[in-house]
Amino acid sequence: MALSFPVTPAAHPRSDSERAQILVNPGFGTNFTDHMLVATWTDGQGWNDGKVVEYGPITLMPSAAVLHYAQEIFEGLKAYRHEDGSVWSFRPEANAQRLNRSATRLALPQLPEEDFIGSLRALVEVDQAWVPGFGEGEKSLYLRPFMYASEAFLGVRPAKTVTYSVIASPAGAYFSGGLKPVTLWLSTRYARAGAGGTGAAKCGGNYASSLAGQLEGMEHGCDQVVFLDSSTQTYIEELGGMNLFFVMKDGRILTPQLTGSILEGVTRASILELSKELGLDPREESIEIEQWKDGVRSGEIVEIFACGTAAVVTPVGELRWDGGSAPSTAGENGGEVTNSIRERLLDIQYGRAEDAHGWMTRLV
Ligand code: COI
Repeated sequence: MALSFPVTPAAHPRSDSERAQILVNPGFGTNFTDHMLVATWTDGQGWNDGKVVEYGPITLMPSAAVLHYAQEIFEGLKAYRHEDGSVWSFRPEANAQRLNRSATRLALPQLPEEDFIGSLRALVEVDQAWVPGFGEGEKSLYLRPFMYASEAFLGVRPAKTVTYSVIASPAGAYFSGGLKPVTLWLSTRYARAGAGGTGAAKCGGNYASSLAGQLEGMEHGCDQVVFLDSSTQTYIEELGGMNLFFVMKDGRILTPQLTGSILEGVTRASILELSKELGLDPREESIEIEQWKDGVRSGEIVEIFACGTAAVVTPVGELRWDGGSAPSTAGENGGEVTNSIRERLLDIQYGRAEDAHGWMTRLV
């Protein structure tokens, strides 16, 4: 039977004016709505005790397995306000399926797709006033479902008590510079993930392992880091929080093929579809880092962009590494193809274009 999520209304919700003030300039990931959703899984009982309660601190024993062994996964997706006031999400079933693939890899329980989508609906319904208005630029309500080993136990084995939760955060552009191209640091010292590891899973550990590289990049004036395959340091993988695309002079649009150590981005998969409709020739291939360096110099690569739920489509500028750099192809605000893919995606998400693929699901 599907989980239900009875609501206990927040005792101290923000006032209309406090909320309106936050929604003027929400930033990313710093403000949260008045409620959160929680459900518990126990070995034997399965999923139970679903509920929506006031957003606030959670109680965990210091021995909770997640704090020691990082048995945790998450998802990221957005709720968009359409012109008629309704609220929609983009391909939530793809997130539900990826959550379950991540759960398999991290030895966490499966969450039925209907409960995943039901959980988004339940939280967005109660906090719908937090979804920014239609036509207010690139604003949305970012939804963060996550699942973690909450059992208080220090033995190394899959937890027998697990918590699933959803929190929601009004969001503007992920990068404060807007469409300004991001400068990337090529990490040759650190890898994000390795063969047989957890790279394809959306688990906190992958993001933790990207941070030393991110720090190194920041020390060199870069915004984000590019990771290569850990075995040969030859092939481009991803940025850690975003996938990469290369627009070629001859109309091909290339993205690194999925190897098991690259995150299977929902935005990535959608761009592979949309680019065909824009007359491009999408390919998933192994791409060597030398192809990047040579391609921007020879003019074979005309645009490079990064993509993800949070950052949508973001132009990539210069690439730097220890002892060198490859120039930007992006101009001031990204190239023509980058921007047309970005607009096409946003038009579908905000209901400004026909949803020919059936990608949108109404939440409220
Ligand atoms: C997303 O794009 O939703 C991500 O997960 C990237 C980052 C904010 C963790």
